[in-house]
Amino acid sequence: MMEEPNQRNNQIKEYIEELFVEEDDILKYVRAHSKEKGLPDIHIPLHLAKLISFLAELQNCSRILEIGTLGAYSTIWLARTLKHNGKLITLEMDRKNAKIAQEHVIKANLSDKVEIRVENALSALPKMIQNKEEKFDLIFIDADKENRKEYLDYCIQLSRPGTLILVDNLIPRGPTINHEPNNHEAKFIYSFNHYLAHHPLLDSIIIPSIVQKQGRLDGIGMVRVR
Ligand code: DHB
Ligand code: MG
Repeated sequence: MMEEPNQRNNQIKEYIEELFVEEDDILKYVRAHSKEKGLPDIHIPLHLAKLISFLAELQNCSRILEIGTLGAYSTIWLARTLKHNGKLITLEMDRKNAKIAQEHVIKANLSDKVEIRVENALSALPKMIQNKEEKFDLIFIDADKENRKEYLDYCIQLSRPGTLILVDNLIPRGPTINHEPNNHEAKFIYSFNHYLAHHPLLDSIIIPSIVQKQGRLDGIGMVRVR
């Protein structure tokens, strides 16, 4: 079922983004080139790009982990906030996406800071834990919905007290909220949200966000590790 575009939400989104988000030519190019290359048009909206980089600045990040690179749009926003000698590791399981993302990272002059690992997060994350990789200051989860809980559990082990974990797309499509028994993806997300809300190690909130053209409401999760 196609949802009607929500004009008011769209206007609010554009209003906020025009006033508060400055996107330079490199980021504009990355969006245009991603589209040209046929990547799905599901990069984070501009107001979320600004929000996550704003939060990354507050975290004073030396190390950022991203799950789900796609065309590296959010990667570039986040990597730009890194301290001198900071590092962002981003996991992408699609080789073709990773190749385009790498081009974009080079274009953004960030190849010394950004490492794209072409690997499924379900195998990459436990290896990172086993290898005792240094803890991350901020983690951005923006990948498939089905494995969110597993990603989160691994990410907690890659966190220190105070690490900020951001999770995109926590309000699924559909006419009803928290009741979508036939929608596989929605079931996963609502169950994930319940898990998040009741996790003793985490302090969390979901903030509504406005998605691309339709003006549909989604949500971004902000999670602080205690
Ligand atoms: C969609 C949006 C996202 O931000 C994402 O990560 C995956 C899918 C979507 O609108 O379908
Ligand atoms: Mg997303």
